[in-house]
Amino acid sequence: MPLAIRQLQKHFVGEVSGLDLRKPLTKEQAQEVEAAMDKYAVLVFHGQDITDEQQMAFALNFGEREEARGGTVVKQADYRLTTGLNDVSNLGKDGKVLARDSRAALFNLGNWLWHSDSSFRPIPAKFSLLSARVVNPKGGNTEFADMRAAYDALDDETKAEIENMICEHSLMYSRGSLGFLDYTDEEKEMFKPVLQRLVRTHPVHGRKSLYLSSHAGAIKGMSVPEGRLLLRDLNEHATQPEFVYVHKWKLHDLVMWDNRQTMHRVRRYDQSQPRDMRRATVAGTAPTVAQEAAE
Ligand code: OGA
Ligand code: MN
Repeated sequence: MPLAIRQLQKHFVGEVSGLDLRKPLTKEQAQEVEAAMDKYAVLVFHGQDITDEQQMAFALNFGEREEARGGTVVKQADYRLTTGLNDVSNLGKDGKVLARDSRAALFNLGNWLWHSDSSFRPIPAKFSLLSARVVNPKGGNTEFADMRAAYDALDDETKAEIENMICEHSLMYSRGSLGFLDYTDEEKEMFKPVLQRLVRTHPVHGRKSLYLSSHAGAIKGMSVPEGRLLLRDLNEHATQPEFVYVHKWKLHDLVMWDNRQTMHRVRRYDQSQPRDMRRATVAGTAPTVAQEAAE
């Protein structure tokens, strides 16, 4: 069966068929998937019963692996996954569901806020590829917002106002907004804010998008409350239902998204039951803004 892509009702999502992700892609197939990512921004693959190694190999068609370090309060020695994938599950190293009040579980709750992966890194992530290994029995949909369409729908005055704005992003802002405020000195150093443009331009097709994320906690040159209010307004605008696709997971779905042109969040689920989601992250290639000014 040849590779085919069906556009879903939400136009920024394509459903891919005719690919077996257990096998290496041909160069042509990889190019077709990448071109589809540029066109759609989210791609859905069903029925992909893959190993961690196969998932990583598929991701590496699109760039380098992004280091997981610096994105979690879990120490490397306590990682459940040692294959280079990001652990987005609610499971501990022993494979059991994390205690609801454990630090790791509380930190992971940040994924319930709208965000773009690794916007807290100087060079933020390009693509994320999330594979459903155990689907939670209740809830746990993942929602995606099209930040190109959200940008396009802004009025001209707002577009001009925000064009050159620079935001500070940190994991301490997203978690802090949930009341998770205690960090070790080592974590404070690791989670130091980085700078990101508020409007970014896609390197291939040149469309602009709003680069929002729960990690954004300040806008340069503005008071913190004013900056946060503007970010809140923009988030409210960008996550209106018309811009949002809701993915209801089936076992062995793989969903791939472009962090440069979308935001996402997971919805409430039954935290007493397992939800095993594993993410391969493709590194970005350039900062959105020079980082020196962050110091
Ligand atoms: C992620 C993420 C949401 C989910 O993998 O980056 O935010 O549905 N996941 O688990
Ligand atoms: Mn995420």
